[in-house]
Amino acid sequence: MTVLDAGRLAAWHRDGFLVLPDFVSRESCARVLDATHRYLDGIDADTHRSVFTTEEQTRTSDDYFLGSGDTVRFFWEDEALDDTGRLTRPVRHAVNKIGHALHDLDPDFDAFSRQPPVGTVVEELGIASPGLLQSMVICKPPGIGGEVTPHQDATFLWTDPVTVIGLWFALEDATVDNGCLWAVPGGHRGPLRQRFRRADGGGTAFDLLDPTPLSTDGAVPLEAGVGTMVVLHGRSPHFSAANRSTASRIAYSLHVIDTNAHYPADNWLQRGPAMPLRGF
Ligand code: FE2
Repeated sequence: MTVLDAGRLAAWHRDGFLVLPDFVSRESCARVLDATHRYLDGIDADTHRSVFTTEEQTRTSDDYFLGSGDTVRFFWEDEALDDTGRLTRPVRHAVNKIGHALHDLDPDFDAFSRQPPVGTVVEELGIASPGLLQSMVICKPPGIGGEVTPHQDATFLWTDPVTVIGLWFALEDATVDNGCLWAVPGGHRGPLRQRFRRADGGGTAFDLLDPTPLSTDGAVPLEAGVGTMVVLHGRSPHFSAANRSTASRIAYSLHVIDTNAHYPADNWLQRGPAMPLRGF
């Protein structure tokens, strides 16, 4: 069965993104939103925040991040902890994201991510051998949800050649006011600017691949009601503003690569042998 008609395929090639309203059911969104709240309510803030307030903060948070590829970890909003490491608000409104293997470890997110139409779209966009590489809930909590600066997803999830596709699902309504995605129509036709990788001596580094500035001129807001799936080309420049509104903006994002492409050993996201990459 075809999901993307000729008009949508043409829009994909022209713009480098698609906004597909009502792509998944409100019920399926409610199920993973409930699961998200269970994760948030299960966080032991006293234990968890100590990870980030030790003297070796940079190294510790690098290790925590670099080890999150095949598990489920929590990341605070920048403004969630004060200078003494105390939370400035309730945990539910202090978490920036949860990641990065929800789709393989949590039955609700597994079922949500592997709904057949999702796999069909990825296939129709030319991914011959899909691997579900990374998933995260992006919480963007009211009042504090941080901005995501302009970037291309292939910077962080690089394959040779570039194959990554981002699938972004609105679990709550995303508007200009509460920090919806913005993308630059046609921006994916430009080069990949940077590659983020594990650095030789530990930590991480960016390699400059092309010096062309990553312009956001002409960016358009991708407002999305609950159930919308936004599809993003790996080179599409995109970003989202901070959420200074009173409305929560929880979204789920899933990144898929073609396993026929080379996945380097110094990519930041790595999986242990116990959890090989799986398709839909
Ligand atoms: Fe992104």
